[in-house]
Amino acid sequence: MRTSEPATKQPKILIPEVKLQARISELAQEIAHDYQGREIVAVCILKGSFIFFSDIIRRLDIPMSCEFLGVSSYANKMVSSGEVKVTLDLNEPLEGKHVIVFEDIVDSGLTLSYIMNLLRGRRPASIKSCSLLMKPEALKIEIDVDYLGFKIGKEFVVGYGIDYAGSHRGLPYIGFIDQEH
Ligand code: IMP
Ligand code: MG
Repeated sequence: MRTSEPATKQPKILIPEVKLQARISELAQEIAHDYQGREIVAVCILKGSFIFFSDIIRRLDIPMSCEFLGVSSYANKMVSSGEVKVTLDLNEPLEGKHVIVFEDIVDSGLTLSYIMNLLRGRRPASIKSCSLLMKPEALKIEIDVDYLGFKIGKEFVVGYGIDYAGSHRGLPYIGFIDQEH
């Protein structure tokens, strides 16, 4: 059997586990400091953010409830389709709540922008975004990310919850798939 397809190639390390975890601790401290005395609704954007989300919320020493929003913007492709499909909605209303949306990666910005507009419509008391990764050179719209882990280049990344065609989510680091054979 041939194993030269991108999904089966071993990714190279872009952000090692130690660096990832150190930055996540810093982000958690920043957020906990900003939200002192308030309770938050932490929204995990599925599927890509589930590992980032579970790591950061365990370091957030503030009262919170957790909600999950399923979103699909890629149909196994390496380029953004620009289409955003909600595959799983939240279980609780957001009205009057302090909401933080946790996303894995901002590429064109279309997905996060869509999500923020969707959730703003539910009249939260406040809403902020936190993304582990962002590709500033790939942005197609202006978007503010309130808490950002790392800026990266335009390379297609995998690991730590982020997939290519469903693979590589379980890697403990952020990797990239070398396109050269
Ligand atoms: P955007 O709408 O172009 O900003 O894309 C955001 C979504 O696309 C992210 O939540 C990811 O699910 C996916 N995505 C963007 N860049 C990558 C990547 O490099 N690897 C894997 N998924 C990505
Ligand atoms: Mg995502």
